[in-house]
Amino acid sequence: MKERETRLISIENRFSPITEQYRNVRTSIQFAASSGQSLKLLLVTSTEQEEGKTTLASNLAVVMSETNQKVLLVDGDLRRATAGKYFNSFSTRAKGLSSLLSNSRTMPEEAIQSTQVKNLDFLPAGPIPPNPSELLNSNRLNEILGQLEEQYDFVIIDSPPLLVVTDAQIFSSKVDGVILVVRENRTKRNNLIKCKNLLKQSNARLVGFVYNGAKSTSTGNYKYYKY
Ligand SMILES: Nc1ncnc2c1ncn2[C@@H]1O[C@H](COP(=O)(O)OP(=O)(O)O)[C@@H](O)[C@H]1O
Ligand SMILES: [Mg+2]
Repeated sequence: MKERETRLISIENRFSPITEQYRNVRTSIQFAASSGQSLKLLLVTSTEQEEGKTTLASNLAVVMSETNQKVLLVDGDLRRATAGKYFNSFSTRAKGLSSLLSNSRTMPEEAIQSTQVKNLDFLPAGPIPPNPSELLNSNRLNEILGQLEEQYDFVIIDSPPLLVVTDAQIFSSKVDGVILVVRENRTKRNNLIKCKNLLKQSNARLVGFVYNGAKSTSTGNYKYYKY
């Protein structure tokens, strides 16, 4: 079995060219934000599994926090929670988003954990609920996102694939912007078109695509394309 990769390039090597590429993505988002509408709540998603969503969301959260802004990474993949593996706080059974969603009296502070990265906090997915989509498709999620928005400069939400379950589409209608990860040699063109249509249906703002190149197994290669 493949050993689980638990090291994050932007933490391990702040000066690597790959970390610099994540900073380029950060810059593009900052530009998109300065052109009018606020971009505080950002959703990271893609067409299918294993395209690099969690990797991008985690690295982006780290480089965002370098600019002295308070950043929260949310593991919005309630079914396959993996975002926490890069941070020293990781515990699968900890309270998380699902706990907040299923109990309206639980406050975000009870579930949010600090990380080894300055300015970066983490909200785990929480215990796997029997009905993730129904939990997300609720006014309670709006309420939680509203609270997080008040407490942080940026909230980055990692999510399941758009075309596999409906969760990411639900998130997309409640955030300020959506970033679609496209993995080289993997993401299908037709699926991208389906995603664009789903996002349109939910009135989501597609901020851009991040092209995740497959040049090397350990490094990767990121480019940002504006929508
Ligand atoms: N550009 C890349 N090159 C090589 N491996 C990558 C690249 N991007 C992601 N990976 C690896 O692929 C796997 C799936 O990535 P992940 O970010 O978890 O995808 P997702 O969240 O979309 O399912 C992880 O093991 C990750 O380290
Ligand atoms: Mg993932």
